[in-house]
This record gives sequence, structure tokens and C-alpha cells, in this order.
Amino acid sequence: MASPQSILVTGGAGFIGSHTVVALAEAGYRPVILDDFSNSQQRVLDGLRQILGHEVPCYVQDCNDRAALLDVFQRENIRGVIHFAAFKAVGESMQEPLRYYRNNLGSMIALLEIMHETGVSDLIFSSSCTVYGEPATLPVTETSPVLPATSVYGNTKQIGEEILRDVVAAGKPLRAISLRYFNPIGAHPSAQIGELPLGTPNNLVPFITQTAAGLRGQLTIFGDDYPTPDGTCIRDYIHVMDLAEAHVAALQALQKNTAASHYDEFNVGTGRGASVLEIVRAFEEVSGQTLNFRIGPRRSGDVVAVYADATKSREQLGWTAKRPLREALADAWRWELAIGR
Ligand code: WQD
Repeated sequence: MASPQSILVTGGAGFIGSHTVVALAEAGYRPVILDDFSNSQQRVLDGLRQILGHEVPCYVQDCNDRAALLDVFQRENIRGVIHFAAFKAVGESMQEPLRYYRNNLGSMIALLEIMHETGVSDLIFSSSCTVYGEPATLPVTETSPVLPATSVYGNTKQIGEEILRDVVAAGKPLRAISLRYFNPIGAHPSAQIGELPLGTPNNLVPFITQTAAGLRGQLTIFGDDYPTPDGTCIRDYIHVMDLAEAHVAALQALQKNTAASHYDEFNVGTGRGASVLEIVRAFEEVSGQTLNFRIGPRRSGDVVAVYADATKSREQLGWTAKRPLREALADAWRWELAIGR
């Protein structure tokens, strides 16, 4: 029995990263976390130990630190990388552009340099549907135009993809896949890991669960005067465990690929759009809670509707989202109740 391949998960103590660590271990890999814990807590490692039954190796390091990266690659015999480590607050990115460009792009460049130095060529990159902006046609496919970014955060994702594309075009020994996430929600069904409530949530579902749990007074729905059936914005909400499993499918596809250099992009969404009001009503059904909300003004930067055509992921990665929306909302609610205890 060959020893399991060690896969470096940068940002592996984060929301999507920690769930991907579970999916990697369940697929027979040996995940190794590198995280600076700027947006996470030690309790994530405790949750992972509860789920997996063993410690996950974890290095508290900055992904921009080349020497630290080299040490981990050599010490852990890293065979592939899933790169989550990045700052991701859209609003904050507009206030602190240089901090975002330096961190998000600097870590990508440092990682690619160390991968090259150590002969590691497989990389999965955490990208975002935000690259599509306000799509002219729906659902969006991977050939839908990438529109000028509307935030510094979104621009760091677009530039990250371009860096990978250019390194592969230069014939360097890199095989990379960018996964364009839609809206990840929910938590591991064990409620041992989930989206940590670090500060006021920007995202809809954690705001809903915190309101239902009494931590927030009222949910504000940012506008109900959009050109959609019920007037509220539409998104593609995907269970974080489905998203995690997409990373394993992408890594396995890369490892089967015989080319020395390869780049491609995939949408990772359910293919179904849901409006804000639909999410609210579904949550009320699933939780049995009546949600206190009001309609407020539109939030600047919001797109009216975006959801995925996930055909390419299904056909080429053999992956499709399988957990229904209500299961994701039930898992999110269970996690909220667990952390509240
Ligand atoms: C969803 C909908 C809001 C909060 C963001 C990032 C994107 C990606 C996913 C990283 C919108 C509405 C929200 C609230 C509300 N992150 N809403 N009241 O904006 O689609 O995407 O997270 O890659 O880059 O932009 O997600 O959850 O913030 O908003 O009415 O209190 O919920 O207007 O229509 P979004 P979101």
C-alpha cells in the first residue's frame, strides 16, 4: 500500500480550506495545512481532529514567506498544492488595495517559485465567479466573458488566473486548474467545522443564522427592486462540502493528465439560481424559525443575478454538486447552534 500523497493546503484553516482538508483525507490523501491564522482560529484544527480522528499537520506561516514554504515542501514531501490563502473581504479590498495585491498575488508568486524549485507541478487555485461580473447571459459558462473586476479582491482573482495561464504558456512545468466558486454555504454535517463568525458577516447565510440565533437584531435584505421574479438578487448557493469535493476531483484530473504543462478553468456551482427571499423562506422552513428581516437599500457592487453552467466540471472532472439547498441551510443552522453553545 503506497503511502498517501501529501498535499499542501494553503489557507487550510479557513472556511473552504478546512472542508477541503476533510475531503482530501477521505479520498486517501495526506493534507498538510499552511495558514497564518489571520482569519481563522485553533479551534478549526480541533474540529478537524474530531472529524478525521487524527491531527492534521499544520504550519503557522505566511504564504508569502518563501523560506517557510521551502521548508514545508521539503519536510513534508509535498506532491501537490491547493491554494486558498488570500484576503477575501470585497469591501476591505477597496480600502486597502496594496495590502490585498501584495498578499494575494505575492503568495501566489512565492508558491509558484517554490513549486518550481522543488519540482512540484500540480496546483488547484481558488478563484471566484466574481470574475464574470454582471453576466450578459445566464447561466455562465467558462467561456462567458471575464469582465473588468469591480473590486480589488475580484481583480486579484483575475490576475491570479492570468499568472497561472502565463506561466503555463511559457512552457514551465506547471499543471494548474482555477476553480471559479459561486456562493459557498453550510458546514460539515458533524458541526465540528464551519464558517467562523469573525466579526460582522458580509455574507447572507451567516447573517441569517446569526439573526435566527439572536446574535443579530434583524437581517436587512439589500434591495427588492431588482429585475428578478421576486425583486431580490439571485445567486448559486453551493454546499461547502460539494465545493470541497470539487477540489479533490480537480486534483485527481490533474494527476491523470500526462502533459507536463496544463491550464484550465472550471465553474463550481450547482447550476441553480436562488433569490435572497427564497433563501430566507427555505431557511425558515428548515430551522422552524421565523426570521426578522426588513427590506433596505441596494448594496453597491451587487450583481442582479449570477449562477453557473456546471456542465464542463461534470463532463471533465466527473464532479457535480449533489447536496440540496435545504441540506446546506440545515447544516449552517446546526453549526450556528453548535458554536453558540
Ligand atoms: C448574496 C446576496 C446580497 C447579506 C460574495 C463575494 C464573492 C464570493 C462570495 C469570495 C446578495 C444579499 C447579503 C445581507 C443581503 N466571495 N445580502 N443581506 O456578494 O454574492 O458574493 O461572497 O469569493 O466574491 O462577493 O455573497 O452572501 O454577500 O450576498 O441581502 O446581510 O445576499 O445583496 O444579493 P455575494 P453575499
